[in-house]
Amino acid sequence: MRTEPIASEANIPKSVEEFYTLLREYNLGLDYSDLPQWTKIFTEKEPPIYWVRLAEILSQYPKSYSVFEIGSGLGDVLALLNLLGFEKVAGIERLEKLATIGNQKLFNLFNSKDIIIGEYPIKLENIDTLIQVNCVYFEGLFSKQAYINQVWQFYKNANPKHFLLEVIDSSFTEHSNTFPDFVRISEEDIYKTFSGLKISSFLTYQFPKNSSTKRLYIISK
Ligand SMILES: C[S@@+](CC[C@H](N)C(=O)[O-])C[C@H]1O[C@@H](n2cnc3c(N)ncnc32)[C@H](O)[C@@H]1O
Repeated sequence: MRTEPIASEANIPKSVEEFYTLLREYNLGLDYSDLPQWTKIFTEKEPPIYWVRLAEILSQYPKSYSVFEIGSGLGDVLALLNLLGFEKVAGIERLEKLATIGNQKLFNLFNSKDIIIGEYPIKLENIDTLIQVNCVYFEGLFSKQAYINQVWQFYKNANPKHFLLEVIDSSFTEHSNTFPDFVRISEEDIYKTFSGLKISSFLTYQFPKNSSTKRLYIISK
């Protein structure tokens, strides 16, 4: 039985790439038989592009920032936040099974359990950075306006300095049951919704190399 967190201060890997090797090794030891297919992305040889991009963006922010992730899954984004040294890290996951495995992972790697089991939005205060990546939540929603309203409500609830939001890009026009047309968001949609804020973005996934095209937005006050 492990007694020391494997990424404790004494042996925190120097680079994000090195850390990914450690994280992947941990993940390869998990039992995925009962878990959704997407949970396996952090067992791939290469880390997901959005995770590497997040590392690049977040490493420019002060470590004193409080960072919150909506939809934490198995905790692989929260693991990155811990690696980068953020003092205040938390996330929320509605599926208890995923949150429990994720918290065990974070505890083994960083001696912390950052995942709240619950449904976002919850009451939050003083959030500097809000993260919503690799997540398209549209249960009970049937129009683009309703979907965009939800994204806006999720943002307003935390009222962060920075919102790192990944969406399915409107340039993705293939038929898909996973991603209905109304969750495909254009740059215009985002600029209209977050007008007055500073916005930049880049593609993280691109069809046909990937199963869809996604864009990560950095939306800042
Ligand atoms: C595809 S996963 C992505 C996990 C993580 N962000 C990552 O990149 O590895 C999306 C997760 O969000 C969770 N989720 C969706 N809507 C949620 C909500 N309103 N509150 C909390 N969790 C939610 C789902 O249960 C799912 O585990």
